[in-house]
Amino acid sequence: MSISAAAAPVNASAPVALIIGAGSHIGRAALSQLQAQQPDWEIVAIARHADALPAGPGIRALTTDHSDASLQAIAAQLADVRGRVQRVILCLGVLHNERLRPEKRLEDLQSDTVLEYLRINAVLPALWLKTLLPLLTGPVACSVAVLSARVGSIADNRKGGWYGYRASKAALNMLLQTTAIEYGRRAPNVSLLAYHPGTVDTPLSAPFHRSVPEGVLLQPEQTAACLLTQMDLPGTPGTARFVDYAGESVPW
Ligand SMILES: NC(=O)c1ccc[n+]([C@@H]2O[C@H](COP(=O)([O-])OP(=O)(O)OC[C@H]3O[C@@H](n4cnc5c(N)ncnc54)[C@H](OP(=O)(O)O)[C@@H]3O)[C@@H](O)[C@H]2O)c1
Repeated sequence: MSISAAAAPVNASAPVALIIGAGSHIGRAALSQLQAQQPDWEIVAIARHADALPAGPGIRALTTDHSDASLQAIAAQLADVRGRVQRVILCLGVLHNERLRPEKRLEDLQSDTVLEYLRINAVLPALWLKTLLPLLTGPVACSVAVLSARVGSIADNRKGGWYGYRASKAALNMLLQTTAIEYGRRAPNVSLLAYHPGTVDTPLSAPFHRSVPEGVLLQPEQTAACLLTQMDLPGTPGTARFVDYAGESVPW
């Protein structure tokens, strides 16, 4: 279930930004920059653990376990933001944890780990897009970004490996584009973006930094600034964009 970890008084007519997976280092950087750019906006930060959530004026902090019941409870709690949401950033994603290690070769493939990648990286963001639809639709232009990854590009896959993570980000991209087609009919005010943040200095990528060429690793603040710039650009109803931190299109 969802609980309100910290509730600060907000202006009931203020534009709203939702950061889902707000414990993410990229998400936190985006949140800070949004706050600095738009001090009058309300920011709703949603994460699994209260201690990962920011607090302060203009921030509504909610916890979730990403279950259907929790998503429904949060949608009910957020009924008042309907028609005010201008930015949504879906940050959640996993590359490694106590159960998951990116596979190097076919012999590493296991059904439970591939399914776990798909559940967290693709299915949960799609369920959030389903849950948010009634809150986003309306006359106010709204930009929604999911944190994808270039390794989810089928056309760009020349190195192989990382089966589960790659497949989950490719699935995320397909779910996003399919959602964009339906949002195009039901919420044409919403534009959808799959964002490749680059290789970023966060816990998600930390075990793999040794193989990153010098000068390539980005800080969360750098890629968050690029993400917010991309989100400011107008989208085309009925189609999602897939772009990277340099603003270049990534092939699906
Ligand atoms: N760092 C990179 O180099 C890089 C490169 C390409 C793409 N990305 C993508 O960028 C996004 C943000 O990653 P980050 O680099 O900021 O890493 P991070 O700081 O480690 O954040 C991880 C995010 O994933 C969520 N998460 C982790 N395990 C989860 C689980 N079991 N169930 C639900 N949510 C879970 C966290 O949720 P809480 O907020 O609830 O803690 C948090 O939002 C991810 O989608 C990642 O795939 C990152």
